[in-house]
Amino acid sequence: MNYYIITGTSKGIGKALAEALLQEEQNYVYGVSRNCSITHSRYHHQPLNLSDIVALENNLHKVFPVLKNAERIVLINNAGVVGEVAYMGSQATHNFSYVFDVNVMAPAILINTFLSAYHTENCPKIILNISSGAGKRPVDGWSAYCASKAALDMLSLTVQQEQLLLNSNVRVFSISPGVVDTAMQDHIRDLEESQFSEVEKFKKYKNDGALRPPEEVAERMKRFLENYQQYKDVVFRIESIEQH
Ligand SMILES: NC(=O)c1ccc[n+]([C@@H]2O[C@H](COP(=O)([O-])OP(=O)(O)OC[C@H]3O[C@@H](n4cnc5c(N)ncnc54)[C@H](OP(=O)(O)O)[C@@H]3O)[C@@H](O)[C@H]2O)c1
Repeated sequence: MNYYIITGTSKGIGKALAEALLQEEQNYVYGVSRNCSITHSRYHHQPLNLSDIVALENNLHKVFPVLKNAERIVLINNAGVVGEVAYMGSQATHNFSYVFDVNVMAPAILINTFLSAYHTENCPKIILNISSGAGKRPVDGWSAYCASKAALDMLSLTVQQEQLLLNSNVRVFSISPGVVDTAMQDHIRDLEESQFSEVEKFKKYKNDGALRPPEEVAERMKRFLENYQQYKDVVFRIESIEQH
C-alpha cells in the first residue's frame, strides 16, 4: 500500500492532488488542514492549524500513524499562505511569524518527524515540498512569502544532501506549481496596486485563462510521483514534469 500524508487538502492544489491519488486502489491519503472537504474510504483527515506550532507538536503522533505493509510513504508539504501583502516598513510584525510558521516551520517539523517516525521502514520514502517561483525572484509586497519559499527550497536541498550522505531510501523535492486557479490567486487579485505592483498582471492571467486548473497540476504531480526516480534535481518547476 502507498501512503500519502498531505497538508492543505481542504481546497486548491492539495485537494485536487489528494483526489487524484485516491483514484488508485493502493493509495491511502492522510490529510491535514483546518477544514475537511474530502469524504472517501481511503482518506483520513486530521484537523490542525499549522500556524499553531504548539498544537502541531502535540499532535504529531496523529499525523504520522503506524502504517501497515507500506510499499511507499510520501510526505507532501503543500499547505501555504501568502499572508498580509504590504511593503516592509508598513506590515504587521506578526505577519512574518505567521507566514514562516505555515510555510517553513510546519514543513520542517513534519519532515523531521516523518524521517524519524518511518526510519525503520525499508520502502521508498519521498518528501515533496510545494514551493513557488516567488522563492526564486523578489516580488514587491510579498517579502514574507518570497523569503519563506526560498527557505523551503534550501531546506529541501539540505535534507536531500543529508539523506544522500546517509545512503538512505529518501528522496526530497521542492516543486513550483506555476500560477494555479485557486483561492490563493483570488486573494492576490483582490489586492491594491499600492500593496503589490504586479496585481494587474495577475488579473490578466485570470482574464486570459492563463491560470492552470488545480486538477491539471495534480495530474502532473501524480505523474511525477509515479516516475520520481528519473528526476535528479531537488528544486524545479512543474514545467519540467512531462505531461500525459
Ligand atoms: N495557486 C498558485 O498560483 C500557487 C503558485 C505557486 C505556489 N503555490 C503554492 O501551492 C500550495 C497550495 O496553494 P493553493 O493555491 O492550493 O492554496 P489555497 O487554495 O489557498 O489552499 C491552501 C491550503 O492550505 C491550507 N492551509 C492554509 N493555512 C493553513 C493553516 N494555518 N493550517 C493548516 N492548513 C492551512 C488550507 O486549508 P484550511 O484553510 O482548511 O486550513 C488549504 O487546504 C501553497 O504552498 C502555495 O504557496 C500556489
